[in-house]
Amino acid sequence: MARIFIISNRVAVPKAGLQPGGLEVALKATLKKHPCVWLGWSGELSDTPRTQTFTKGRNAYVVTDLGQEDFEEYYNGFANRVLWPIFHYRLDLAEFSRRDLSGYLRVNNKFADELAPMLKPDDVIWVHDYHLIPLAKALRDKGLNNRIGFFLHIPLPPPEILTAMPNHERLIPALGAYDLVGFQTDGGAANFARYLAKELGTPSHLSMALGSGARAMRIGTFPVGIETREFTRAAARAMRTQMVTQLRESIPGALMIGVDRLDYSKGIPARLEAYERFLTAYPQWHGKVTYLQITPKSRSQIKEYSQMAQAVNALAGRINGTYSHASWTPMRYVNRPYSRAALAGFYRVAKVGLVTPLRDGMNLVAKEYVAAQDPEDPGVLVLSRFAGAADELGAALLVNPYDPDSTAAAMARAIDMPLAERRKRHAELYDALLRNDIADWGDRFLAALMGPENGEAQGEALNAFIARRY
Ligand code: G6P
Repeated sequence: MARIFIISNRVAVPKAGLQPGGLEVALKATLKKHPCVWLGWSGELSDTPRTQTFTKGRNAYVVTDLGQEDFEEYYNGFANRVLWPIFHYRLDLAEFSRRDLSGYLRVNNKFADELAPMLKPDDVIWVHDYHLIPLAKALRDKGLNNRIGFFLHIPLPPPEILTAMPNHERLIPALGAYDLVGFQTDGGAANFARYLAKELGTPSHLSMALGSGARAMRIGTFPVGIETREFTRAAARAMRTQMVTQLRESIPGALMIGVDRLDYSKGIPARLEAYERFLTAYPQWHGKVTYLQITPKSRSQIKEYSQMAQAVNALAGRINGTYSHASWTPMRYVNRPYSRAALAGFYRVAKVGLVTPLRDGMNLVAKEYVAAQDPEDPGVLVLSRFAGAADELGAALLVNPYDPDSTAAAMARAIDMPLAERRKRHAELYDALLRNDIADWGDRFLAALMGPENGEAQGEALNAFIARRY
C-alpha cells in the first residue's frame, strides 16, 4: 500500500492534552485510512537542530527543529512578512528581503533533504500551504518522480498583485513541479491559471511543460470543510459544561461572538468599528447585547501583529469607555485560547456569529458557528464576502467588511431576525456544510492527485469559470 507523506510547517504530533488544530481535523480521515508519515517543523528552535520521530498506529510523525536564523528568515521573514500579506492582498504590509528569500529556499531544501531518503517510488507526497511552495521543485531536482500534490490553505491573489512580489517569477512557476495544485476556491484557482497565462503564456492551465520531461500539472478546487455532525453534537454537549453555563449566566441579553487569531487579515479593528457604529445607531440595544471577541495572540514577533494588538486594545477600551454603564459592558475582549469543545458551546449560546475577515482562504469559524447552532432556535451568521467560506455559505448575511455602516446594519438585522427566517437560513447553511463534509476532503484531493482522468473536465469547468468572471 502506498504511503502518504504529508508535509506542512506545523505538525500535529499526537500528544495527550493537545488540541486538534484545523489541519489535523482536515487530515483526520486521511491519517486513519492510509499509512501516513507527517513531516515538518517541531515548533522548537535550537542551535543544534534535532529530528525526532513519533509513531501512533500506522502513522509516523517526523519533526525537525529550526535554527534561530531559519526561524527568522523562513518563518517570520519570507513566509509571514512577504507571502502571508501579499497572498491576503496586502502589498502595503509586505517587507521583502533577499536574505529572507534565501532562508526560505534553504529551509525548503532542508525539508527535501529530510524527505528524500525516506521515499519509495510509489509513495505519494502531499504538501500543505505557503511555507512550502518550492518543495516539489527541490524534490524534482533530486530526481524524484513521485506523485506530489500541493494544497494552498490561504487565498491566492490575482496576477496584478502577485506580480508585484519581488522574485515571483522564481517562486510561483515552481508550483509547476507539482502534479496537482489545489485551492480553497474557484477564485484562487482562476487567479493561478490567469497568472500562468499572463506570465508564462501557458496556452492552457491544464498542463505545463517543466524541464525536460513534460509533466502535466493540474489545478483543482477543494474547499476545506468541517466534521459537521460531530461539531453539532459537541456544541450540544458543551451546553451542560460549567464554562458554557457561566458564560450564559453572565450575559445580560443577547451574545454576539467573534473568534479569530490576532491577525490583520481577520479585520478585527474594522469589526470593532462596525460594532461601535451599531451602538451609536441602535441605542435600543444598549444593555441588551454583549459582544465577546476571543482573539489568541499570534506571530507576535512580527511588528504588524504587535501593532495590531495595541490598536485592538485601544478600540475595545474606547468602546467600553464610551458606552458601558455601571451594570453593563458592551464588549469583552479576551486574548486567551479556548478548547474547541468550549468554543462549540460558546457558538451555540451566541445569537450572532461575526466572521468578517478582510480576506480569508476559507474560515472554518464561519462553518463551525453554523454547525454549532440549535436548528430549532439558530443564531445568525454575519459573514464577509471576502472569506472563502462565502462561496458555500451564501445564506449567511454577507457583508463588505470595509463598509462599517453596512456591517453595523447587518449586526442589527441579525440580532433582530425573526425565527422563521433564522431557521430557513440555517437549514440552507447546514445543507451546504453537509454537502462538503471534511470526511471526504482528503480522498477527493488524493484521487485527483492519483488519476488524471477527470483533468480535462476540471479544466473545462475552470475555463468556464474564468470566462464568466473575467
Ligand atoms: C493559517 C495558515 C496555517 C497556519 C495557521 C497558524 O491558518 O494557513 O498554515 O499554521 O494560520 O499560523 P502559525 O503561523 O501560528 O502556524
